[in-house]
Amino acid sequence: MDKDRMSVRSALKTIMKAIRVTEFGGPQVLKLEINVPIPEPAQDEVLIKVEAAGINPVDTYIRSGTYAVKPTLPYTPGKDVAGVVEDVGAKVLHLKKGDRVYSMATTSGGYAEYCTAASSGTKILHSNLSFQEGAGIGIPYYTAYRALVIIGGARPGQTVLIHGASGAVGLACVQIARSRGLRVLGTAGSQAGIELISRNGCDVAFSHREEGYTDKIMEATERTGPDIIIEMLANVNLEKDLSMIAKKGRIVVVGNRGSVEITPRLAMQKECIVTGMVLFNASQDELNEIDAAVSAGMRDGWVKPHIGKMYTLEQAPVAHDDVINNKGAQGRLIFKIC
Ligand SMILES: NC(=O)c1ccc[n+]([C@@H]2O[C@H](COP(=O)([O-])OP(=O)(O)OC[C@H]3O[C@@H](n4cnc5c(N)ncnc54)[C@H](OP(=O)(O)O)[C@@H]3O)[C@@H](O)[C@H]2O)c1
Repeated sequence: MDKDRMSVRSALKTIMKAIRVTEFGGPQVLKLEINVPIPEPAQDEVLIKVEAAGINPVDTYIRSGTYAVKPTLPYTPGKDVAGVVEDVGAKVLHLKKGDRVYSMATTSGGYAEYCTAASSGTKILHSNLSFQEGAGIGIPYYTAYRALVIIGGARPGQTVLIHGASGAVGLACVQIARSRGLRVLGTAGSQAGIELISRNGCDVAFSHREEGYTDKIMEATERTGPDIIIEMLANVNLEKDLSMIAKKGRIVVVGNRGSVEITPRLAMQKECIVTGMVLFNASQDELNEIDAAVSAGMRDGWVKPHIGKMYTLEQAPVAHDDVINNKGAQGRLIFKIC
């Protein structure tokens, strides 16, 4: 380490509060520790003083040990953060100490006072947005853009149904679709969710808890169906989506929590495409495209994450229970760290 960097490091605290997981399991395995060493950024990483961290459903799948990718134990959960760059690795040229950033590329875990992150996945947070909002950008907006625009092929003038629009990814889909000139239909499970998605750009909002709501969606499309459906709970809705989708339309499965029986004849009649989407399959070119779109959206004001609820790190077990079991989502749940 050179002399300048040594003086930066010695000026920093050396220990921090962080959530540590020592065994996979239920929310109770999330333990707050107060003397965790502050990580050192590698040459291509930055050290971020975390102001807020996003709580994504995937954090709970990983914590339970059932997800395809398992971190080495012990680990600190959390991919999405927003905060201030505290230190940079020797090869980092585009970021400097003091920059306000958001990142979905944490390498040491975001549920902490400090984290390291790959500099390539760490971006400037526009001054239009608070740190709390910044913690809701990464996974939700990158997922939404890739599902809607890159995989869904959304074009101005088309009609999209966001099936589950009140959560973080759904709301990002609504804002992106609106900004690109689509007609936006969305569903939510509570009155507050319906109001939220309407305020964020849904032309027509429906309750996915109301009997017969799919018929109302068909009426709203003069019975031709949406051109694109972005699906947040495929194990519950895929058969309904196949019934609703327009001829030659596209159903993009973003969320799924089980298995489902479907009638393949519906897909034959519609000649529709059903495709899955996982953000972590995104190529570097796709990530560059999404960076540019999100950056423009922050500047122009339509990238505006809604914070449903804030938690302290001490409340991590409750927060993980809420993100999976609460009905009536209203955007992103986050930890407010500082
Ligand atoms: N494929 C990927 O790369 C990727 C990336 C990120 C997230 N995801 C997945 O995408 C899903 C959404 O993520 P998120 O972060 O937005 O979660 P979230 O904030 O918890 O939102 C969940 C959404 O699902 C809705 N929902 C609940 N029951 C529904 C139903 N019967 N029909 C339609 N929608 C229903 C909720 O609506 P109400 O609460 O209003 O009922 C809410 O809008 C999760 O399953 C997550 O794991 C996938």
